[in-house]
Amino acid sequence: MNKILNALFGLSDESGEATHADVIDLLKEDHQKVMELFEQFEDLDMSETREKRKLLRKIFAELELHTQLEEELVYPLVENAKELVTEAREEHHVVDLIIAEIKKARAMNDKTDAKVKVLKEMLEHHIKEEEHEMMPRLPQGELQEIGARLKVRKEELLGKEFPEKEMVHAGVQPVEELYGGSELEEAEKTEKPEAAAKKPAAKAKKSAAKKSKSNAKRGGKKRSAA
Ligand SMILES: [Fe+2]
Ligand SMILES: [Fe+2]
Repeated sequence: MNKILNALFGLSDESGEATHADVIDLLKEDHQKVMELFEQFEDLDMSETREKRKLLRKIFAELELHTQLEEELVYPLVENAKELVTEAREEHHVVDLIIAEIKKARAMNDKTDAKVKVLKEMLEHHIKEEEHEMMPRLPQGELQEIGARLKVRKEELLGKEFPEKEMVHAGVQPVEELYGGSELEEAEKTEKPEAAAKKPAAKAKKSAAKKSKSNAKRGGKKRSAA
């Protein structure tokens, strides 16, 4: 609640100093952040599939939140550029389609990398248009007010509609739910013996954990009975 009030009144959480929630600064920060994540993805080796999936989760969460905020709170305020706004909404739609395709992929391979590259290139073009053609058409006297509204809505979405992004922020990575299948499935597909060998080890670990849990439960019951 305090965060929302502070965002509304332009105050920081602790110091109470003005934070100047200029909507253009906020959107540009998001653009820069997502582009840095793409660069990190490109720097990874083909074999670092686990890291790639982690980065994709972050990229998708950032994009899903950012595009929703723009469509709800920013695009309707762009003046005298109906065609530009329609085009930008269509680009968001294409972004969604590419994301959905990557999410469906069962393996991280050169085809997935190519899709990520296409997504990045499309976004570079999209961001350029937003920053150079749309942002100057926002009501310049209301940038901080729009920024404050955007911050409040972001908090709402993070709490309600984007639990996945909240988890990313908290540093939680549920490995089993990562995009593009799992390490084991991929190993089976590519028939790499060293990776495939992880499978029985993982199973044994799971079974040992289950056994130990069940023993602990039994032990607990005995203690409480005594
Ligand atoms: Fe956008
Ligand atoms: Fe944007």
